[in-house]
Amino acid sequence: DPLSDFIRSLPKAELHLHIEGSLEPEQMFAFARRNRVALPFHTVEEVRAAYAFTNLQDFLDIYYQGAQVLRTEEDFHDLALAYFRRLAADGGVHAEIFFDPQTHTDRGIPFQVVADGLLAGMVAAKDELGVTSHLILCYLRHLDEEAAFATLKAAEPYLDRIKGVGLDSSEVGNPPSKFARVFQASRERGLKLVAHAGEEGPPDYVWQALDILGVDRLDHGNRALEDEALTRRLVDQGTTLTVCPLSNLKLCVVPSLEAHPLRRMLGLGLKATVNADDPAYFGGYLLDNYVRVAAALGLDRAQLARLARNSITGSFLDAAAQTPHL
Ligand code: ADE
Ligand code: ZN
Repeated sequence: DPLSDFIRSLPKAELHLHIEGSLEPEQMFAFARRNRVALPFHTVEEVRAAYAFTNLQDFLDIYYQGAQVLRTEEDFHDLALAYFRRLAADGGVHAEIFFDPQTHTDRGIPFQVVADGLLAGMVAAKDELGVTSHLILCYLRHLDEEAAFATLKAAEPYLDRIKGVGLDSSEVGNPPSKFARVFQASRERGLKLVAHAGEEGPPDYVWQALDILGVDRLDHGNRALEDEALTRRLVDQGTTLTVCPLSNLKLCVVPSLEAHPLRRMLGLGLKATVNADDPAYFGGYLLDNYVRVAAALGLDRAQLARLARNSITGSFLDAAAQTPHL
């Protein structure tokens, strides 16, 4: 297909990808078997049938359950490398992957097991595929700020290999302001800052992510469009938005891809990018997200090239590392 070939040929970075959300049902069974973890499912079809979500929390419940099969450094290495192979096949050249350490440390898996496994997978991806990557540690916003501080402390020996911190999990009821101090402490350690905001939460949460957390990039941001002054602020500041079309569809953030705001975002001059979020759960990796949203919204080649370019310039790669992709 010419459109798909064109998009594959564009150098692209993925800036919103939860590595635990790349766990395919087949891998879930394989890891469960080798780790002797019991699963409430018997077949891949049963698992996929459970992936019918009506909101973010529906998804999160099943996503945290799936993550329980991940136990060893090898698991995290294999998970990451499988994702990077998929990314390379889609024409991805770089990824900034999120991980949720608290999901693992809270069930007794040491931070080091998770971090060492993922970092090994990232090195293997560079060697095997030439794909570069950064790691972004996400604080779980349904837990308290003290738990986030404990996670930052556990990450201390790894801060030279962690690019930034983010904020994810249940948005509504857990505003960015809840994490003001731990984001300040993260900034003082030289980390980049991102946060999920405006996925289900109101425009006020996006204002908080900008003004209280001081984020360098915004994850989702869909609902910012409800506020004209906020939209203007994001345009004027040139804030990159990591938009996730198939995620938005599966979590009912939009009623259909035809109704997705991506085209409007580009028209307004927002620095939007396209990303997969949790591809194993939402039915598509990076290229699928581009192709399906392009078809639904009738995006032209110039708009697609703009999206790909935004992903490179919106990445945390330094200018010299971006240049070959621009
Ligand atoms: N964790 C994994 N995917 C997420 C999403 N789309 N929103 C919030 N938390 C998440
Ligand atoms: Zn996300």
